[in-house]
Amino acid sequence: MAKFRVNGRQVEASGPDDAPLLWVLRDELGLTGTKFGCGVGQCGACTVHVGGQAVRSCLTPVSAVEGLEITTIEGLGAGGIHPVQEAWVEAQAPQCGYCQSGQIMQAAALLSANPKPTDAEIEAAMNGNLCRCMAYVRIRKAVKLAAAKPRRKAAVRPSEVRS
Ligand code: FES
Ligand code: FES
Repeated sequence: MAKFRVNGRQVEASGPDDAPLLWVLRDELGLTGTKFGCGVGQCGACTVHVGGQAVRSCLTPVSAVEGLEITTIEGLGAGGIHPVQEAWVEAQAPQCGYCQSGQIMQAAALLSANPKPTDAEIEAAMNGNLCRCMAYVRIRKAVKLAAAKPRRKAAVRPSEVRS
């Protein structure tokens, strides 16, 4: 019965404490923008923010987020499109789109912590997020576009955004 906040809203999980956060988000809360890919922490499709950090929700028991603030792709741009999402549109990054919410959440966490990452830092942060469509060139371009946006805007921490 973990209690936590999702996208600025207080919620309570009704299932077992060891239920993966991914399934609580998707099945209980209807936040289906977070995707299931591998279920074992290897693809990044399920990435959300916990206290502003990128976390694999498939590996995170819901009890571990008791009292914490979760941001999903649905809440990232609350109050307006997030600069990372703007960059994703400009770069036309997605192909099928399945991996993209995880990619965007990973990139947003990177840029929140490090607004002007080097290519190597982008690679290190993003290389755990797999894309079956091989859209990596456009994804990396989108991260750089987001980093080039005005610092104040790009550095907004998702956990500071409230709906
Ligand atoms: S579904 Fe969580 S890392 Fe693949
Ligand atoms: S855009 Fe299809 S899996 Fe990444």
